[in-house]
Amino acid sequence: ARRVFSGVQPTGDLHLGNYLGAVKRFVEMQNNDWETIYCIVDLHAITVSWPGREGMTAATRELAAAFLACGMDPEKSVLFNQSQVPAHTQLAWIFSCVARLGWMNRMTQFKDKAGKNAERSSLGLYAYPALQAADILVYHATHVPVGEDQRQHIELTRDIATKFNLDFGAENFFPLPEPMIEGVATRVMSLRDGSKKMSKSDPSDQSRINLTDDADTIAKKIRKAKTDPEPLSETLEGLEERPEALNLVRIYAALAETTPEQVMAEHGGASFSTFKPALADLAVAKLAHIGEEMRRYLADPAEIDRVLGKGAEKAAAIADPILARTYDIIGYVGSR
Ligand code: TYM
Repeated sequence: ARRVFSGVQPTGDLHLGNYLGAVKRFVEMQNNDWETIYCIVDLHAITVSWPGREGMTAATRELAAAFLACGMDPEKSVLFNQSQVPAHTQLAWIFSCVARLGWMNRMTQFKDKAGKNAERSSLGLYAYPALQAADILVYHATHVPVGEDQRQHIELTRDIATKFNLDFGAENFFPLPEPMIEGVATRVMSLRDGSKKMSKSDPSDQSRINLTDDADTIAKKIRKAKTDPEPLSETLEGLEERPEALNLVRIYAALAETTPEQVMAEHGGASFSTFKPALADLAVAKLAHIGEEMRRYLADPAEIDRVLGKGAEKAAAIADPILARTYDIIGYVGSR
């Protein structure tokens, strides 16, 4: 059996990295007959700060609208928000008793997000990867499509599954999920700095393309993207030491659903004054309608809430029996 699970945090606008590295692939898997479960991880979204009551609600509905606008179909995929399926947090507690402090201390995302002030970070930010493991394993999910930055968390998930199965004498109970980090856009870089990944937390809005950007904004951000002064090389190998140029070629390939080699076959040797407008046209054609669709979905928040509510019921119907078996394995009275 193969079952896909992935999650996205409702913390501000989705950007091109989230789209190409995650959401676009979520929809492709949904349409290729995988069993797909996609979660708005609202519990994870308060580990660093709380956006306020209205802000939390709005961010969740906006992410749901973005999923739907990208082609997610709630009849084909289970689409819901994490807080409404208590089994995630219940299993997360068990996993926080399985994961070792030494494992958690190695998590690079914690180090990045905590910065110099780890003492003032929340316990939740530290424990976050145990909740992420529970998100995946409470469905016995086997495949997890994510961007490159999540690889370490999926490896931790596999370690937790292995240790639970061993320590609790439950051979093969939790499957070891495969990270699916595939395609040319698993690490989309900032448009302002080819050494940094495109990120919601970058203070410069010019560094990223948001799915809510209109056509003009998308085109302008691409025209202003940082590049070096040389034209594109003739071949892909020639871009090795040119991260900004390579990033634009990869974005082009991902949007056009082709390979970087093919893009270079067509555009190799071109100056950026020709390549950038071609990329801008492509990006506008592929992305501008998503923002429009999002606004259409957001005009009816009650419908979004209904979709998420139905999704949560379907999710709980899968997760609850797996949690019950976990409790039974542990020997909790009342679980047999
Ligand atoms: P989050 O919300 O930061 O990102 C959502 C997805 O977008 C991918 N991504 C990128 N891909 C390519 N280039 C980029 N620049 C880029 N930036 C982000 C991320 O890799 C991710 O796939 N911890 C997760 C959420 C989560 C989760 C889970 C994921 C919670 N539970 C269980 C999978 C399974 C996170 O913070 O993603």
